[in-house]
Amino acid sequence: MKVLQLGAEIFPLVKTGGLADVMGALPQALQAAGCDVRLLLPGLPAVLAVAEQAQTLCSFGPLFGAARIRLLKARLPGNPVPAYLIDAPYLYRRGGGPYQDEQGRAWPDNLQRFALLGWMAAHLAAGELDEDWTPDLVHGHDWHAGLAGAYMAAHPGTRAASLITIHNLAFQGLCPAADFELLGLPRAFMQPRGMEFHGQLSFLKAGLVYAQRITAVSPTYAREIATQEFGCGLDGVIRQRGSEVTGILNGVDEQVWSPQTDTLIHSRYDSDSAPSGKAACKLALQREMGLAEQAEAPLFGMVSRLSAQKGVDLLLAALPALLAGGGQLFVQGSGEAQLEAGLHAAAAAHPGRVAVRTVYDEALAHRVMAGADVVLLPSRFEPCGLTQLYAMRYGALPLVRRVGGLADTVVDASALAIQQERATGFRFEEASPPALSFALQRCLSAYRQPGLWRQLQRQAMAQRFGWEQAAQQYLRLYRELLPMA
Ligand code: ADP
Ligand code: GLC
Repeated sequence: MKVLQLGAEIFPLVKTGGLADVMGALPQALQAAGCDVRLLLPGLPAVLAVAEQAQTLCSFGPLFGAARIRLLKARLPGNPVPAYLIDAPYLYRRGGGPYQDEQGRAWPDNLQRFALLGWMAAHLAAGELDEDWTPDLVHGHDWHAGLAGAYMAAHPGTRAASLITIHNLAFQGLCPAADFELLGLPRAFMQPRGMEFHGQLSFLKAGLVYAQRITAVSPTYAREIATQEFGCGLDGVIRQRGSEVTGILNGVDEQVWSPQTDTLIHSRYDSDSAPSGKAACKLALQREMGLAEQAEAPLFGMVSRLSAQKGVDLLLAALPALLAGGGQLFVQGSGEAQLEAGLHAAAAAHPGRVAVRTVYDEALAHRVMAGADVVLLPSRFEPCGLTQLYAMRYGALPLVRRVGGLADTVVDASALAIQQERATGFRFEEASPPALSFALQRCLSAYRQPGLWRQLQRQAMAQRFGWEQAAQQYLRLYRELLPMA
């Protein structure tokens, strides 16, 4: 079974969030399970800079405004999955991020930049670009890959199956309707039953309408997006697809996230040595962040994009409950200016008790997982969430809102779950400061019972969210789509 995986990010080269972690790990897990998988990625500078054994398969142009485009076949360092890279300097060779410039403004030519990604996938699937390899199935991730299914559907000779995975329905790739002309697709695609969305062109809707199957990154999120509350205006489209929408939970890349082998943390530890290992990591983190060096103060950590999705405003409002219980808070993240300012103000008001770093720093994220007692995810919505999974592996208990993948992965420390030895963290229901405050109080009270805390920590560390299980579920789905392969 030949499967092409396409997306915009890939760990460790291009990353704005969990999508990169998934693109780095899932294809490798599929390959390990015997699938003939290849990647297709935009040739962003960070990717081209390290590509090895690059060989040009085809040259194109002018196309999507670019004079010269090459399709390369290459290897990425440390990644056994072969990669097709789109070398289009006019569209991809620039500073800033994958979707935005340095000031956080969306690139004005994102339509061309990501239409090219979908276009290339469809032409690979049509067997035109690599005479040695034609995918049986094209598996795209998020709106950036949304047009692959549309270009494939527009071509009568393409037999490959198509699948799209939704990592976040809130990011939709909306463009002015007039730009539809630039795509070279039949007019009939730009209508409400196609990729038109309230007078605009929607990459994500194209993905949802034209892919044969849809997955979301957790079973609960797959159900939530069929409702108005979580559907971001696309719940009707999701409902129409009925049972063709399913959820597959993400995994953890254990090569990257394991406290036993992690060279980025102060002291390595396993479940048995967690109390002393984590104590050393916590002291190091407190020292680094200018927090009071108190072993007994429960340290709450958060590593996150700072957006409304992540509930940082709820946390700021519930801060008194955290501090009243003797807790310390460290937040690492960047994003919306107002949330960054709110966090800086909290740190200034509570020196030694609240600290903030508005940076993107992969190594620091590891030190937080190792040093924190609790990792916070008070998300308004969370398709899967990876940091709660990392937290559990590192013996930090997750405190989460019961939504999406958080509901699927964290078992609340209720009296019953404690008795049944199943509890792995703390959950709250309503996205409100009082509900979060109450959860913080429950968590602080458990922290003051060392025996109970140790039990919860052991149970959290015993959880296994491996990519092997997820890969098996994707393979099952691929087989449903490709009974002959
Ligand atoms: P999302 O994809 O919505 O941002 P996830 O929990 O799925 O949420 O994944 C977030 C990923 O990004 C994790 O690997 C997390 O460690 C990482 N991350 C988020 N913010 C930062 C940051 N400021 N510095 C380093 N890593 C970060
Ligand atoms: C998205 C979601 C996050 C998920 C990640 C990887 O960015 O916001 O919940 O874990 O994708 O699938």
